[in-house]
Amino acid sequence: MRVRAARALRALRRAVLLLPLALTALALLLLPRPQPLTPSPGNSLPTAALKDEIHLQVIENEVVTTADYVANQEIEGDEVSRRPWFMRGGEQRPWQSDPHAKLFPEDAPGDDRIVQQLMYTLPKDEDVPIKKILLANGVGAWGVAAGRTEFIRNKCPVDRCSITADLRDATTADAILYKDHHTVLNMKRSPNQIWILYYLECPYHTASLRPSSFDVFNWTSTYRRDSDIVAPYERWVYYNPKVTEKELDRNYAANKTKKVAWFVSNCHARNRRLQYARQLSKYIQVDIYGACGTHHCPRTDPNCLEMLEREYKFYLAFENSNCRDYITEKFFVNGLQHNILPIVMGARSSEYAAAAPHNSYIHVEEFANAEELAAYLTRLDEDDNLYNSYFKWKGTGEFINTYFFCRVCAMVHANERRHRSAHYSDVQAWWRDGACTRATYWRGADGKDTASPPLISSN
Ligand SMILES: *[C@@H]1O[C@H](CO)[C@@H](O)[C@H](O)[C@H]1NC(C)=O
Ligand SMILES: *[C@@H]1O[C@H](CO)[C@@H](O)[C@H](O)[C@H]1NC(C)=O
Repeated sequence: MRVRAARALRALRRAVLLLPLALTALALLLLPRPQPLTPSPGNSLPTAALKDEIHLQVIENEVVTTADYVANQEIEGDEVSRRPWFMRGGEQRPWQSDPHAKLFPEDAPGDDRIVQQLMYTLPKDEDVPIKKILLANGVGAWGVAAGRTEFIRNKCPVDRCSITADLRDATTADAILYKDHHTVLNMKRSPNQIWILYYLECPYHTASLRPSSFDVFNWTSTYRRDSDIVAPYERWVYYNPKVTEKELDRNYAANKTKKVAWFVSNCHARNRRLQYARQLSKYIQVDIYGACGTHHCPRTDPNCLEMLEREYKFYLAFENSNCRDYITEKFFVNGLQHNILPIVMGARSSEYAAAAPHNSYIHVEEFANAEELAAYLTRLDEDDNLYNSYFKWKGTGEFINTYFFCRVCAMVHANERRHRSAHYSDVQAWWRDGACTRATYWRGADGKDTASPPLISSN
């Protein structure tokens, strides 16, 4: 009798839980169906991954929700409040926990999973314990406050975390974040404790680890897309992944009388970018500002960047190192966020394509040599329509705040719920082997990807 009552109660509870779901499904059926998405060349990989998830999948009482806000975007794409919470004016928050969210590298190879991590949430009805995150190098290195402020203030969808920099918390912390090097703490480590290695700079500018530290890390956090928690210099997100171009309301070539500008102070970069720029200057005007050139404008003077976008058509956004996924503010901020067309050297062509807005730059590797690049730039200089076609992405999305600590918190909770366990058997090899090339071009260089992925197990 009691069993039957309990069963009836469970059925009733399920019916109540499913009611809003049924209504949503009905509403979706009645609304005009979004067109099936077709891949377009400019779409970044994360969007491509989201496309696979556009379905309403009912598993017991749970709904897969990651794609719902994308579906909503399709319907009311222009309404600012319909955008996800991490975009300006966006109010769309995850409304139900998705146990199958693509959060970890093995869930979506090639994808940075940043959007999915930002849209992850925990079941609302559960009393979730606070996870303690220890910053091994102190709070100052991160510019955050100890305690829960960072999570509450940023309204993280998963905010059940607390930051500490007190090394006495080392044995009880749920995760320890090491910035740029492994600070060896005198402590006993629990197998559930997650050690995260964070690198801001590229392999040439990070210190080598001691061999005893090679196999102690569970997760990585770097600008690289195959890191567990990807921390890029900037992250572009379209408002509507199907709209990657807009009609222009101005002429970006107007009033510009000069051709190529470059701001540079390190004249001995490993990728020989200076030699390339000098080569380029044989065929087109290249004004080199700073220590390696003859033009002067102090980097700290905001008028410099203004002068740049007013007078020049092209900007050399050459990184100092050619390393996998290594694309910095030189490109995202100095280039893309000004009205100038960036010419890039650094990561591979395909890696820029995955990180940058559609048709927003020119990669040196698209040309056989500097002479051919110069010829194309000269053509762009003479054809305003062609030049302007590189600015049509403007206004179709924004560079988002990727709320690093929100994602750390979400990942620590998600990892536990999945009973996932992982560690890098040699994080140094993952970080360094095959990651960079000393050649100017990746092609021809031995560009084999030797990254050794982490060992994963879950039960
Ligand atoms: C070009 O210069 C003219 C005259 O100074 C000015 O009115 C116009 O706004 C400028 N155009 C752009 C795109 O800066
Ligand atoms: C973390 O890595 C260590 C080995 O470095 C491993 O023993 C432990 O199980 C891992 N824990 C998790 C939660 O992944």
